[in-house]
Amino acid sequence: MTGNFIDEKAYYQAKEQRDPQTRFWNSSHGRDRRFDAILRHTAIAGQSVVDLGCGAGDLLQHAVASGAVPARYDGLDIVESFVAEGLARGLPGRFHSCDVLEDEWPVGQADWIIANGIFALAQAGDGWWTRYRRLSDKMWRQAKTGMAYTIISTNSPKRNEETRYCDPGEILNEAIARFGDAVLLDHSYLPNDFLLVVRKTR
Ligand SMILES: C[S@@+](CC[C@H](N)C(=O)[O-])C[C@H]1O[C@@H](n2cnc3c(N)ncnc32)[C@H](O)[C@@H]1O
Repeated sequence: MTGNFIDEKAYYQAKEQRDPQTRFWNSSHGRDRRFDAILRHTAIAGQSVVDLGCGAGDLLQHAVASGAVPARYDGLDIVESFVAEGLARGLPGRFHSCDVLEDEWPVGQADWIIANGIFALAQAGDGWWTRYRRLSDKMWRQAKTGMAYTIISTNSPKRNEETRYCDPGEILNEAIARFGDAVLLDHSYLPNDFLLVVRKTR
């Protein structure tokens, strides 16, 4: 644990050691469905983007391949080797080592603040909600147009102890109470995952 939370840096480093292919997602299909859903609902082409828990920059690569090139992209990740890999790929963006929960981000506000997969791990006690609220509040403060993040769903046919499964209805209502009702929830792209998009204006 780091502070009150699981040591995600150690978790993802160990996962990479076990199987580099599935270090971020169990399947490339699931990963790409998530990326496509994010791109569909955020329209990041020509926009500034901060990508929290960016891994090795796969979302940026997918966006570029899909013709949705952001005007400015900053990827932040807690694992230095992922950041180094992102930098080495020659993608049109910048990558930074940072604990997005505990550290001040090395970037300013952006049109879109995106987090794909950073809320996936279970935490002890109320830790998941504390971490989720703290990070989504931080995202909201830094967003000019809006924020988008994925969450693992209680609708998932599978269960494992490491994962936090969330009730989409509960997440939606809680987000409306905190951020207002310009919210979209997409649960159509996978059975086990959903995307929440919250805009500053309609
Ligand atoms: C499920 S992976 C997803 C990676 C990437 N978003 C993608 O879709 O390819 C979650 C990522 O979040 C990063 N992460 C977890 N906690 C973090 C934190 N507190 N600060 C920065 N990055 C974090 C991990 O290192 C990992 O790269």
